[in-house]
This record gives sequence, C-alpha cells and structure tokens, in this order.
Amino acid sequence: MSALLELRGVSAAYGAVKALHDVSLTVEPGQVVTLIGANGAGKSTCLKVITGLLPASQGQVLWQGRDLGAMPAHKRVGEGIAMSPEGRQVFPRMTILENLEMGAFTRNDDFKPDLERVFGLFPILKDRIAQTAGTLSGGEQQMLAIGRALMSKPRLLILDEPSLGLAPLIVKQIFSIIREIRELGLAVLLVEQNARQALQVADFGYVFEVGRAVLSGPAADLATNPEVQKAYLGL
Ligand SMILES: Nc1ncnc2c1ncn2[C@@H]1O[C@H](COP(=O)(O)OP(=O)(O)OP(=O)(O)O)[C@@H](O)[C@H]1O
Ligand SMILES: [Mg+2]
Repeated sequence: MSALLELRGVSAAYGAVKALHDVSLTVEPGQVVTLIGANGAGKSTCLKVITGLLPASQGQVLWQGRDLGAMPAHKRVGEGIAMSPEGRQVFPRMTILENLEMGAFTRNDDFKPDLERVFGLFPILKDRIAQTAGTLSGGEQQMLAIGRALMSKPRLLILDEPSLGLAPLIVKQIFSIIREIRELGLAVLLVEQNARQALQVADFGYVFEVGRAVLSGPAADLATNPEVQKAYLGL
C-alpha cells in the first residue's frame, strides 16, 4: 500500500534563493502529521510544493503512489489536496457562504452535505452566513479558511499556522477542531509555531531547520526529545 502523500528528496527555490533541500516525508491516510521549525525554516515552502504553487527543482511529490509532476494547483485540489494558507486569505468582500462556495469550485456534485458538515464543526459560520468575511474576527476568519478548504472534500487537509495571532481560548478551539477533523477520517498536515500543541495532536512530526527536515519521529517521541524541548518547547 502506498502512502497518501510522499515527498522524495524534494528541493525548491525562489529564483536564486534555495529554500528547501532534499526533503522526504510521508503522510498516511487518516494521519495527523506536523511540521515544526523556526521562522524561515521552509515549512510554508514545503506546503507550496505539495499544493503545486511552487515547482520542485528536484525530487518527487507522490499522491497515492502517483507522481504529481507539474500538475497545477487547482487540479491538485480536485485530487483531494486542500490548504488553508498562512494568513487565512479569505475573500474579504464576499460573504461566509460565498467563501465556502468558492472552496467547492472544483466540484460538480452536490456539496450541500459538506456545507452542513462545515457548519457542524463551526456553528458560528452558520450564524453569520451572510456577513462579509472581512468583518469577521481573526478566529472566525481562521475557521472560515479551514471550512473553505473542507468544502473541496479533501482527503488531505493542509493547515499553515492555523493558530497564529489568536487568543489562547480560540487556539484551544482550533486544536479541538483539528481533532474532530481527524475523527472524520481526513489526514491533516499541520504547520505550527505552537509546537507543544501541534505535537499533542499529531501522530508524527518533522523538524525543519534551514530548509531541511533534520529530525522526524512519532510526535510523542519528539515531544520528549531534549533537543526539541530546548529549541521548540521552551523547556
Ligand atoms: N516568495 C519568496 N521569494 C523569495 N524568498 C522566499 C519567498 N518565500 C519564502 N522565501 C524564503 O524562503 C525561506 C523559507 O521560507 P518559508 O516561508 O518556507 O518559511 P517558514 O518555515 O514557513 O517560516 P514562518 O514560520 O516564518 O512562516 C525563507 O528564507 C524565506 O525568506
Ligand atoms: Mg510559513
């Protein structure tokens, strides 16, 4: 059985700036995998290569054993790879409902059941369905960004810094929703500055340093690793 997602020796660059070096990682179906690391370590770059926003200069991105090659981003959404990007990036002038409908743009089947599923996870979005996204609080916008990603009915949900800039209570809520999403059977690839909570929710983790995945292991092992504790958990 092939993994849901596998990166084999992936490198990537922005022009002359090499941002990712020889990264290999695996996400199994239903697994929560986290990428942790300092600012600029290459976490978002890695996600951009997976979602097709940035081409790999070397290596392969395999989706259910198949090399995605140069498949464009929108086709990858159709394949089941959805991302809630860093900084949320909801459409500010559109309503909640319109934002969620945008998330379903690759589909031509009935997405009403998924809309209900999103409202089940985030009741506040249903209460505010006609409110424009730009007027939502930061936490609400984050929920909308996750909900929008779920509307494409993904098999892999990628979350880039979902807790960034949110109050502790909302952060707690976001992590409990990640647990609920895994209960739905989705795999989650989670990038987080909040390494402590990320390692609590994840099955497996990778530590990124200057564009390389330097350490990996079961999340519980990483959480008790002295180097990780010192560098990322403030212990
Ligand atoms: N559009 C870009 N053009 C040029 N360099 C970029 C671009 N985006 C990122 N970089 C560089 O690539 C490196 C990795 O950045 P990346 O955004 O992947 O880091 P990150 O781990 O997500 O950091 P953070 O935790 O701050 O979000 C950094 O040195 C960054 O300056
Ligand atoms: Mg980033």
